[in-house]
Amino acid sequence: MTTTTTTITTPPNPEAVGPPTETSPTPAPPDPGPAAGAVRNYLIVGATSGIAKAVARLLAANAARDGRAVGLVLAARETDELDRLAADLRTRSGCAAAVRRFDASDLEAIPAFFADAAAALPGGLHDLVLCHGWLPDAERSKRDPATMQRLVDVNYTSAVVLLELAAAEFERRGGGAITALSSVAGDRGRQSNYPYGASKAALTAYLQGLRNRLFHVSIPVLTVKPGFVDTGMTWGLIKPDSPLNASPERVARSVVRAMNRGRDVVYVPWFWWGIMSIFKSVPEPVFKRLKT
Ligand SMILES: NC(=O)c1ccc[n+]([C@@H]2O[C@H](COP(=O)([O-])OP(=O)(O)OC[C@H]3O[C@@H](n4cnc5c(N)ncnc54)[C@H](OP(=O)(O)O)[C@@H]3O)[C@@H](O)[C@H]2O)c1
Repeated sequence: MTTTTTTITTPPNPEAVGPPTETSPTPAPPDPGPAAGAVRNYLIVGATSGIAKAVARLLAANAARDGRAVGLVLAARETDELDRLAADLRTRSGCAAAVRRFDASDLEAIPAFFADAAAALPGGLHDLVLCHGWLPDAERSKRDPATMQRLVDVNYTSAVVLLELAAAEFERRGGGAITALSSVAGDRGRQSNYPYGASKAALTAYLQGLRNRLFHVSIPVLTVKPGFVDTGMTWGLIKPDSPLNASPERVARSVVRAMNRGRDVVYVPWFWWGIMSIFKSVPEPVFKRLKT
């Protein structure tokens, strides 16, 4: 029987590179991406999200600054908003941008959506950035089966269907990279929002397995675990000026840096790694007595 060992590495600057992550002793070489001078195309799903818009702007701005060509395929249900974002990105950064409608509740339509989105820009697809997600009222998702079903479809099942399609496409092409937004809420079930947390826990575990599989073909999979971010999703849940509430731009900087460095898991902002380490260390007999 063969045994494998894992090492825990501590980054010198946690804000820059995220928390310690489990890594294999022989890491895969970084994804070479498209040939020098060729365009790098990103499919951003949930591109109307506050975090996704900041990531799209940063990817486009960085490429313009460095003289690299990028293409962005922006997908969500609100295509009017995406058309405005695409026009803004083209004007400011000179990147190519296409818009596609995506509804995560329509699971049957996802293969056709992906095939169309992957071919939307010349040069094919090199990166998938999954940002769509739904945080319904916790009481409604506990009591209403249709809401619970939709929550699981949007946050988990649709993501898995897309990720499998992207993994197959990147394996066929011999390269690519995957980034997906999970949540610190998936690190431990809490009474305040466990239906949403459970959907993100499932996504986190799935991404771990996918990363393990794609490591062997040098395709990086990045799991992003944001804490509170100042977007429409958390409106009314946390005071805008709370020190725990991060701006989408700050989160985007950490996400893009982690993408560039081929990280496995990143908490954003970095201090959520410490908070969740404490949360996870509380023994269950104690934790169940807390009002969290
Ligand atoms: N904000 C936070 O504090 C926080 C914390 C932890 C994790 N996250 C995660 O980070 C990601 C982005 O969050 P955010 O705060 O930036 O979100 P947001 O601004 O509320 O946007 C949510 C996004 O999800 C898309 N979406 C929702 N339901 C959809 C459906 N049925 N089909 C297709 N798209 C759908 C929306 O697109 P359309 O409505 O245009 O379709 C929108 O792009 C999500 O996965 C979220 O769970 C956020």
